[in-house]
Amino acid sequence: MFSTRKVNSDYTWVGADRRRDAIFEGVFPIPHGMSYNSYLLLDEKTVLLDTVDASVKEVFLENIDSVLSGRELDYVVVHHMEPDHSASLMTVLDKYKNATVIASQKALAMIGQFFGREVKSIAVKEGDVISFGKHSLKFIAAPMVHWPEVMMSYDAEDKILFSADGFGSFGTLSGTLFSSEVDFERDVLDEARRYYTNIVGKYGPQVAAVLKKAAEAEIEMICPLHGHTLVGKDIQLCLEKYTLWSTYTPEKSGVVIAYGSIYGNTESVANAVAAELCERGQEVRVYDLSVTDNSYVISDVFKYDRLVICAPTYNSGVFVKAEQFISELVAHNIQKRKVAFVENGTWAATSGKQMAEMFAKSKDMEILDTKFTIKSSSNDKAALVEFVKNLL
Ligand code: FEO
Repeated sequence: MFSTRKVNSDYTWVGADRRRDAIFEGVFPIPHGMSYNSYLLLDEKTVLLDTVDASVKEVFLENIDSVLSGRELDYVVVHHMEPDHSASLMTVLDKYKNATVIASQKALAMIGQFFGREVKSIAVKEGDVISFGKHSLKFIAAPMVHWPEVMMSYDAEDKILFSADGFGSFGTLSGTLFSSEVDFERDVLDEARRYYTNIVGKYGPQVAAVLKKAAEAEIEMICPLHGHTLVGKDIQLCLEKYTLWSTYTPEKSGVVIAYGSIYGNTESVANAVAAELCERGQEVRVYDLSVTDNSYVISDVFKYDRLVICAPTYNSGVFVKAEQFISELVAHNIQKRKVAFVENGTWAATSGKQMAEMFAKSKDMEILDTKFTIKSSSNDKAALVEFVKNLL
């Protein structure tokens, strides 16, 4: 059955929720599901803003049909060509044969690559404005937020920013649409951070450039391609968070302790470090890298200002779970953090040195020389206290 929500008198959300998939983009766990957003404008012309993932295509088509109520579809704006938003494009174009695609030149090239066919189209670039009657959309280039072809658009009549992947979140809408219908800061922000840091975190400078352009516009609503339509105080909240995240500035003072442990001896020291930090009034988050998906830990590394990584030597290298975690963190361009290492080796405790070397190309990282070295196991409280003091 169709399921839509009115954004306002002229725009309707025609997207869909999906709870059945465990993993998004083949990488990220989505225990709370995912929403695939699309918006339909009824003006002198009818305009569909993006399509949806193939998994929710059927209900999406019903939604469009119900809102159009017999009208033709004139335009499909493609802000982003990643298949979670474009997989249904050809089905829509086959159904509404007179529809013209509006997209960046790069997106139009990608349509050819993905679908092997030409479509009736209008190419838009930064600053172009297309009028549909009462409403116009002004296009804002947003390269690498999250792919190079991405455009956002702004409706000056209703002061809405259509932000593509920007300002999105993991999780379903479950009947809600506006951020004011949930406690966004308490219940959604963590998943918005995990989404941003893992999907777009690498491209901080590009996000910062788009935020600068967005700051010129008066915004009363932000409609992303995943998650809630931001309204009221949540717009300012998210703009502030995006300003921090895109410049790799920590949100809070605190220490993330991420450990890999084979038999529990490294884990035991990680817990002792956590307890000592808490004794000294520090906020601490502890993760077993063999249990918690990296996306959660990376999200918290973006949130807090310090990081302790604990790992044994393994196959002459770094324990595989810690090695994967550091590789991902470095790939996400993490910067401006203080990092210390706990290493363990029964006969060759070299993992600390190797972990430090993995951060060699990262910018503005304060890598502490003082390592805590475990030879199989440790009860060296004095060394632990000294190690913790260096983190304060
Ligand atoms: Fe939601 Fe970059 O796709």
